Amino acid sequence: MLKQQLVKYIFSLALVLFLFSCKKESTTQKPIITDCDSNQITYNSKVKPILKTNCYNCHSTAVTANNPSMDFENFANLKTYMDLHFHLDTSYGSQFYNNILHTLGAKAMPPDKKISACEIRTIKLWIDAGALEN
Ligand code: HEC
Repeated sequence: MLKQQLVKYIFSLALVLFLFSCKKESTTQKPIITDCDSNQITYNSKVKPILKTNCYNCHSTAVTANNPSMDFENFANLKTYMDLHFHLDTSYGSQFYNNILHTLGAKAMPPDKKISACEIRTIKLWIDAGALEN
């Protein structure tokens, strides 16, 4: 009898811990973004300024003269990179997005800090809409 109660107790405890761990995970994966204007996202109005501020010091045309595939100031290069490194229909998705998201295993970009959640979301929405030069 005592053994049965103990088993029930351990089972309940395990269940509670399991549910708790699920809850924790979903809150960390979905940051609450307030004050983020995600309307009318175009490359020129929203995305380019983010790249200019946070990426051009290492990914401008001038800086990448010896490594043009990393030139993200030049739109054609940026687009080529996007298309080559987009793994459609896999959980991995866009390499570029994983870099700015600092996904485990991806090269963190920028290397020394994470751009804001709103900036990441802006770039994601632009990629989802086809990463156009609009
Ligand atoms: C302090 C310099 C620096 C900054 C700032 C920076 N990067 Fe990078 N980035 C690098 C270096 C160095 C590499 C590696 C280049 C190589 O492999 O030839 C790189 C590589 C990348 C790659 C290729 C990743 C891969 O897995 O091969 C992407 C995409 C990228 N950066 C995007 C960005 C974006 C977007 C930003 C701004 C949000 C940014 N980077 C800011 C230095 C920087």
